[in-house]
Amino acid sequence: MKDIIILGIESSCDETSAAVVKNGRQVLSNVISSQVSLHQKYGGVVPEIASRKHVELIMPVIHQGLEEAGITFDQIDAIGVTYGPGLVGALLVGLSAAKALAFALDKPLVGVHHIEGHIAANYIEHSQLEPPFVCLVASGGHSHIVYVEDYDRFEIMGKTRDDAAGEAFDKVARAVGLGYPGGPLIDKAAKTGNSKAIAFPRVVFKDGSLDFSFSGLKTAVLNYLNTMEQKGEKYSVEDVCASFQAAVVDVLTDNLIAAAQIKGTNKVALAGGVAANSLLRSELLNKAKSHGFEFYYPKPVLCTDNAAMIAAAAYYEFIKGKTSDLYLNAVPGLKLGER
Ligand code: KG4
Ligand code: ZN
Repeated sequence: MKDIIILGIESSCDETSAAVVKNGRQVLSNVISSQVSLHQKYGGVVPEIASRKHVELIMPVIHQGLEEAGITFDQIDAIGVTYGPGLVGALLVGLSAAKALAFALDKPLVGVHHIEGHIAANYIEHSQLEPPFVCLVASGGHSHIVYVEDYDRFEIMGKTRDDAAGEAFDKVARAVGLGYPGGPLIDKAAKTGNSKAIAFPRVVFKDGSLDFSFSGLKTAVLNYLNTMEQKGEKYSVEDVCASFQAAVVDVLTDNLIAAAQIKGTNKVALAGGVAANSLLRSELLNKAKSHGFEFYYPKPVLCTDNAAMIAAAAYYEFIKGKTSDLYLNAVPGLKLGER
């Protein structure tokens, strides 16, 4: 069979990325230009700044992606691009570049759901992994438990009712003065903290729902910090981080294991920026082992936003003939499974 080469483009948040992926699993290049340092001083992503930076970077990043892969535009079989969910101005930059290239080169365009991309990062990392499996997608914008029935068929089994897991990490990090993005900083600080020092709440819904809620946990952390400050007592940032992280990881892992049991699958996977969290990985490894489940997760660079995962997801849409026309628009609130 002829090799299928996909150019992937991602610009939904604060990473401008272009990648070339062969047959959905083999990464020939994955160029990621992060804007983290630009947004750091504001403590979060500023949409307008993100869009402007994407405009500057998108074509150089695409050219670098091709160059590093040793591929010319003619050798591409299709262009895969994130069209939602995400920041509308940011999405539009990658999407407009993808549409312009598709039109100029007369190549098929494949619109990709960002979460579908995160899930597909696992196909790159694990060449043998095939659906069905359950996957926890936890990032700055999402916390979803997804049943991946097939490469292009998804069922959301649970999701956050308020803050996303990554958002909670970022907000707590800011509150304890660690900076942005909070996830990796909390992960690091927690390593020397005591996870049992403070009993933060774990929200489990009584109706058996696999949904999450992190806003109560975030408030509990803020209340703890305020109380300590009012009493003039010192607190340990490391203990707060470790106790907060353990509370998040407990519910994420318990609900994912429950989802696998409901679906009768023995495969569980992680995806999204929070999947880079070291406690989440080790806890899930333990829980998966004790249930006899296989556990899959991508390496950190494939967990956070990148275009290789978008190209991988685009491949599975493309081989099923699912391409998009040039009227494809950015959909900031795109739901998984919608086209
Ligand atoms: O997937 P991603 O790059 O962007 C979105 O689609 O949102 O995820 C970024 C999120 C941020 O909230 C960041 O704090 C979190 O992932 N994150 C982590 C870790 N590394 C990144 N959270 C916990 N532990 C980590 N090691
Ligand atoms: Zn993401």
